Amino acid sequence: MDQIVHENYLDLGSAIVILQQIQDAFGYVAPYMLERVAALTGIPTGELYSIVTFYAQFRTEPIGENLIQVCHGTACHLAGAEKISEVLENETGARDGRTSPDRKFTVKKVACLGCCSHGPVVTVNDETHAKITPEKARKLVQQKRQGCSCGTITCEDDQAQKEVAAVDE
Ligand code: FES
Repeated sequence: MDQIVHENYLDLGSAIVILQQIQDAFGYVAPYMLERVAALTGIPTGELYSIVTFYAQFRTEPIGENLIQVCHGTACHLAGAEKISEVLENETGARDGRTSPDRKFTVKKVACLGCCSHGPVVTVNDETHAKITPEKARKLVQQKRQGCSCGTITCEDDQAQKEVAAVDE
């Protein structure tokens, strides 16, 4: 961590870059890491804390083996995202933004994922799943518990009018 700070600290504006690199290296940015960065750079810990809590890209605790993101953009919200989040939280034991006790899942609500006409949309690690139903959400968790990556669909940006291929109907 000290090396990351030494290699990237130029001025106060370097804070985000340093925090991004720490997250890349450790998977998250813990409070003790903020204190170390503050000690090395002179940037107040409170300012660093504000950055990691303001930007959704930062995590302050380790994520589970599988990161599940549930889109809560307007279209997905109207298509039932709240119910999907509820099912995923019940199935995994992970409350929103948190990691399950068995550390297999982190479940997080996020903003628009860019394929609004296929909502509700969920991503699991690098996979995108469209038109998720409560039953599909339960099945997805079961599959991931078994280490399966089947049932994936590809979902590209709606606005770019790219092809969307659904294979888990
Ligand atoms: S609102 Fe969910 S993908 Fe856009």
